[in-house]
Amino acid sequence: MTLFPNYHRAPVTFSSAKNATWFDDKNQSYSDLSSGIGVYNVGANNPKVVHALTQQAEKIWHIPNLYSNPLQEAVAQKIGGDTYTAYFANSGAESNEAAIKLARLATKKQTIISFSNSFHGRTYAAMAATGQDSIHAGLPMLSGFSYAIFNDINSVKALITEDVAAIMLELVQGEGGVVPAKPEFIQALVKLAHDNKILIIVDEVQTGMGRTGKKFAFENYDFEPDIFTSAKGLANGVPVGAMLAKNDLAPALAYGTHGSTFGGNPLAMAAAEATLDVLDELLPQLSTKIALFWEKLSEFNALNVVDDVRGLGMMAGIALNIPVNTVVTDLLNEHIIVLSAGNNTLRLLPPLTIPTDQLLKSLDKIKLYLSEK
Ligand SMILES: Cc1ncc(COP(=O)(O)O)c(C=O)c1O
Repeated sequence: MTLFPNYHRAPVTFSSAKNATWFDDKNQSYSDLSSGIGVYNVGANNPKVVHALTQQAEKIWHIPNLYSNPLQEAVAQKIGGDTYTAYFANSGAESNEAAIKLARLATKKQTIISFSNSFHGRTYAAMAATGQDSIHAGLPMLSGFSYAIFNDINSVKALITEDVAAIMLELVQGEGGVVPAKPEFIQALVKLAHDNKILIIVDEVQTGMGRTGKKFAFENYDFEPDIFTSAKGLANGVPVGAMLAKNDLAPALAYGTHGSTFGGNPLAMAAAEATLDVLDELLPQLSTKIALFWEKLSEFNALNVVDDVRGLGMMAGIALNIPVNTVVTDLLNEHIIVLSAGNNTLRLLPPLTIPTDQLLKSLDKIKLYLSEK
């Protein structure tokens, strides 16, 4: 054995990709409605990102965080403007670790309230924040985490103590089954946090970078979190993560409190800067595609095997009453790449750049397949 058995790998080898089309080692094409689990938001091998990355590769790959880094400053400005201060990491989980650490250092309190069915990553604090027993199984957990019920404000109120540093959530639970937060829940949560001087951490690892139709999902809910994290689509496939916090929290992550060898690596920053530029051009025109996506998805409600269709922007969950893993495998055999999530939900995260006709044709194929079940 060469690799740990911690993943199930389908017997297909992808060797190249262009926008929403991937090619296997026999040069057969596949339509991608997954973005490689929410990563290729501006399309695989986006030419502007490839250009930025290859240009940077010719110049310098690695600069230790001992020296000034204008690339990091440029990306920080593009993500957080004048409101937020940035720290760069290498993944979503690592960004969430930084967010949890900052919230605790800034408030001098310990407890993080997170939610049932949330997902925040596999490192220790991110895993402890994740509200899924299956992810904790067999491992001792860190203290200082408590779990409320998503979209249930009373369950959050019941957990408020003097020791709560932050409430941490995804605005659309991704791995948990593509479940959007209700606007009235977020409104009540923001008020509750404000009244009790509790920070709000929004995990935008999956919902960010245009996925919900806005650069970050919190823009759909009309509030600014104290802290938010990004990764996945941030550099369109080059590993990177970011933790952004309101400027007044910045002093709490003082010299020596946190760090990373690779975080904010020049290759990742060049790719992130180009990705953010592409996104700025793309987002104003995305609403038509999103409307067509949801028009087509609404037809799925009539299918016998479909219990629910939900989501936001270019993030959709189709809850099924047949085993979703078989559906994912069968669709892969039909050369359509989709994902599962939560309890039997088919998850669709197409690249935002997918040609509309490709998107609609792929959805028609999925609909036909599901209608024959
Ligand atoms: C909402 C959310 N947070 C955190 C993570 C963890 O990110 P990573 O796998 O980059 O550590 C994920 C990954 O799926 C995620 O969806």
